[in-house]
Amino acid sequence: ARFEEHPQLLKGRRVLVTSGPTVEPIDPVRYIANRSSGKQGHAIAAAAAAAGAEVILVSGPVQVPDPRGVTVIHVERARDMLAAVEEHLPTDVAVFAAAVADWRVAGEAEQKIKKGPSGTPGLSLVENPDILATISRHKMLRPRLVVGFAAETENVVPNAKDKRIRKGCDWIVANDVSPATGIMGGDANTVHLVSAEGVEDWPSASKAEVARRLVARIAGALA
Ligand code: CTP
Ligand code: CA
Repeated sequence: ARFEEHPQLLKGRRVLVTSGPTVEPIDPVRYIANRSSGKQGHAIAAAAAAAGAEVILVSGPVQVPDPRGVTVIHVERARDMLAAVEEHLPTDVAVFAAAVADWRVAGEAEQKIKKGPSGTPGLSLVENPDILATISRHKMLRPRLVVGFAAETENVVPNAKDKRIRKGCDWIVANDVSPATGIMGGDANTVHLVSAEGVEDWPSASKAEVARRLVARIAGALA
């Protein structure tokens, strides 16, 4: 029974997964970040490990526990996430499920910013490196299969198709995260798999089930 539950579809493969948010400091006590529970990314790492892969999970701060049988690298900033990803290549597959902060605060303060007569501080932002696009374009170290995510609140599939081309990845897992769907932070997900071949609409399922299905598709693509 155990064998049927976890066929070793990814035995001998190395899989890298990013998950969770990145956190970009303003000063030692404050930050800007994205909403991300890490549930979907961690479920993918767990499913890949259950399928026999050697899995490296690079995660921002999350409440969910480290999956068993997975090497977990904990990071905070987008730049640290990129460095950790590059350090662990080459892999056969990379799945970028993290909600990376698009911007960081220019000139992070070394000391806590205090209230005072000088008024409300202004924040100026600078763009973070795009980890998915960087790895997709790596000359030497590009994994054979690069999978991105696209969390959208409108025009889900058209935006995901554009993103796939723009970032140079093979697949995009697109989901509608508008608040009414309850997907953000929840245990279920409704996704569309966008590839060069077209778009597959997957039925709503638990994040664990979406992860198993994605792992099976990855194994098929590598075979
Ligand atoms: N991503 C990344 N590094 C970034 C931003 C995004 O690796 N600095 C990855 C995410 O992990 C995800 C994919 O890119 O796999 C798409 O992220 P998303 O935020 O949807 O795309 P953006 O290009 O940042 O576009 P948007 O303006 O819609 O936020
Ligand atoms: Ca973004």
